[in-house]
Amino acid sequence: MCGIIGYIGGRQATPLLVGGLRKLEYRGYDSAGVSVFNNGTSKVVRCRGKLANLEAKLLEDPAPGTVGIGHTRWATHGRPSDENSHPHKVGPISVIHNGIIENHLQLRAELAASGSKFSSETDTEIFAHLVAREIKTAENLTLAVRRALAKVRGSYAFVVMSDHEPQTLVAAKNSSPLVIGLGENENFIASDVTAILAETRKVIFIEEGEIVTVTREAVAITDLEGKPVTRAPKTITWSAVQAEKGGFKHFMLKEIHEQPRAVADTLVGRVDLEHDDVLLDGVTLDVTKIKRIVFVACGTSYHASMVGEFMIEALARIPVEVEIASEFRYRDPIIGAGDLVIAVSQSGETLDTMEAVREAKKRGAQVLAISNVLESSIPRLADHAFYTHAGPEIGVASTKAFTTQLVAMALVAIYLGKRTKTLSNERARALLAELVQLPQKMRDIVEGGAQLQVLARRYGGAHGFLFLGRGSQYPIALEGALKLKEISYIHAEGYPAGEMKHGPIALIDENLPVVVLAPRGPFYEKVVSNLAEVRARQGKVLAIATKGDNEIGGHADDVVLVPDTALELQPILTVLPLQMLSYYVADGKGTDVDQPRNLAKSVTVE
Ligand code: F6R
Repeated sequence: MCGIIGYIGGRQATPLLVGGLRKLEYRGYDSAGVSVFNNGTSKVVRCRGKLANLEAKLLEDPAPGTVGIGHTRWATHGRPSDENSHPHKVGPISVIHNGIIENHLQLRAELAASGSKFSSETDTEIFAHLVAREIKTAENLTLAVRRALAKVRGSYAFVVMSDHEPQTLVAAKNSSPLVIGLGENENFIASDVTAILAETRKVIFIEEGEIVTVTREAVAITDLEGKPVTRAPKTITWSAVQAEKGGFKHFMLKEIHEQPRAVADTLVGRVDLEHDDVLLDGVTLDVTKIKRIVFVACGTSYHASMVGEFMIEALARIPVEVEIASEFRYRDPIIGAGDLVIAVSQSGETLDTMEAVREAKKRGAQVLAISNVLESSIPRLADHAFYTHAGPEIGVASTKAFTTQLVAMALVAIYLGKRTKTLSNERARALLAELVQLPQKMRDIVEGGAQLQVLARRYGGAHGFLFLGRGSQYPIALEGALKLKEISYIHAEGYPAGEMKHGPIALIDENLPVVVLAPRGPFYEKVVSNLAEVRARQGKVLAIATKGDNEIGGHADDVVLVPDTALELQPILTVLPLQMLSYYVADGKGTDVDQPRNLAKSVTVE
C-alpha cells in the first residue's frame, strides 16, 4: 500500500502533487517525495515521515515545473528512511511504485553483476535501473517501460518519468490500483480518485496488465504486448469522503473487500513451488533448538495465534501454547532458551505484547514477530520479523490484518513442518497450492455480501448471539463474537461447540441466534449434533458450511456456504461471513463502524 500521483500540464506540479498526496496519506505515511521536471532535469525532494515533513522541506527547497510525480510510502521492502523514500531516480529515470516486486532479489543480483549501483534497499529502485537500462536502446519511454515490465513479477502500479522525454508520463498496472484523471490540456495519474477529485471528475480506470502513456493532450492505453486498448472515461459522482473509502460506505467494508488482494500480497515472494517450500524473507529458524512455541498477542491477534497453534501442531508437531500478552507478562512465565516466542501484532505497537516480548527476551527465549507495520516497535525488538503486508488498516475492527496473520502463520507452519520433517513434500505442495488459490476463493465470499445483508436484517435485532466452533473453528467463533461486540455493541460469546452442554445451553431459546461453524472436516458430524441440540431448544441456527454440503440445510435455519480448502486453511475462509455479518448488523444499527465507542486502533497503554 502506497499512494502515487502524477501531473502533466500547464500548472505548477508540486502544489497539485502535494494536494493529491494529502488525500492519499491514508495509504501510508512512512515517507513522501516528489520528482518534478524543470530546465532539462528532474529534481527529487523526498524524506522520511509524514507528508508534513516533505512540505516543510519543499518550502526550503522548492521544486518548480509543470510535470512531476509524487509518492507517499507504506514501507514493504526496506525500512522507512530518506534513502528508501520514493521517487527513485536512476540516470534520467524517476520512478514511483505501489506494490511488491516478487523477484526483486534475483533482479538485484543480475543488475549488480552488470554494474548497477544501488542507493536504497527497495524493490522499486530495481525497476528504475531496469528502465534506465532499456531506455538506452528503446525508441521511447513507453517501450522501455514495456521491456522492463517483462522482467518483473509481482504486484505494481508504477509511474515513470524520463528527463529525455518530459512531455510524457508512463504508468503501468498489475494488481495495485491506478486511475487517470482527464483535464483540459492537463492530465493526472493516481492510486485512487480521491487524489484528483478536486481537479477533475472525468477518469479512466486502468485494468490489469495495461500500460498507459499520458501527455498533456492525450492518454493512450495498450496491453503489455503494445496492442491498443480503448476505454471510455467515466464521470465520478461520489463525494470526496466516499472516494477515500474507494466508494465503500466504511473503511471496514473496504478492508473486508481488500482481503483477497491483501492475502495475495502476504504470499508474494514467500511460496517456493519449485521446492515445495516457504521463504520467510531471510528469517531462518533452527528447529533443532525449538522445543516449544509460545504465542503472545492481544484481541484479534490472539485469536489468530490460537489458529496458529492448530496449524503448527498439525504440520510441524512442535508443542504450542497461546498466551494473552497482558496475562503472560505478569505471571512470572516459565520460559527460556529452547522456546520460540511468536509475538503477533497488527500495529506492532501494542504495549502488552511489547512488554511480553521484553520479558521473553530477558529470559533467553528467541522471538519472532508477525506484524503488519514495517519497523514498528515489536518487530524491531524481536530477533526476527515477518510482515503480513496487508496495507494500512484504518477501521478499528481488524479484518484484513487477521486473515493475513493466518496466512503468515500457515507459511511459518509449513516452513517448520518441512524442517521437522513431519510434513511431506506432497502435503506441503498441496497446502501451498491451496494457499495460492485462497485469494480467488475469498473473492467469491466477499462478493456474496447480499446474503449477509439479508441475514443481518433477520438476526440483527437480537439482544445476544452465541458463536460455536470446534478445533481451529473455535478461535473463529471467538473472533466472530468479538467482531459483533465491538462494532454493533450486541453481547456475543464464542464457545467450543462441545462446551455448550456445560453451561451456555441454558441461554438458548427462540430469541438467541447461534452461529455455528460447520465446514467439512473431522468434526463435522459432532458439530451437526450440536446444531441439533440448539434446534431442539428452539434456538435459531445460522450455519457456515462448505459448498456442496446438501445435508446441513436440514439442520439449520440459514446456511452460508464457503468454498472448500485444506483443513488447516479453512479458518481463513469461514471468518469472512462473520466479519460481514457483524458489519451489516452494526451498519443496520447505525453505529460508528470505523471508530466504535471506547476503542482505539493501537493500544499503547496497559
Ligand atoms: C479487534 C482488534 C483488537 C486488536 C488488539 C491487538 O478488532 O483490532 O482486538 O487485535 O488490540 O492489536 P495489535 O494486533 O495491533 O497488537
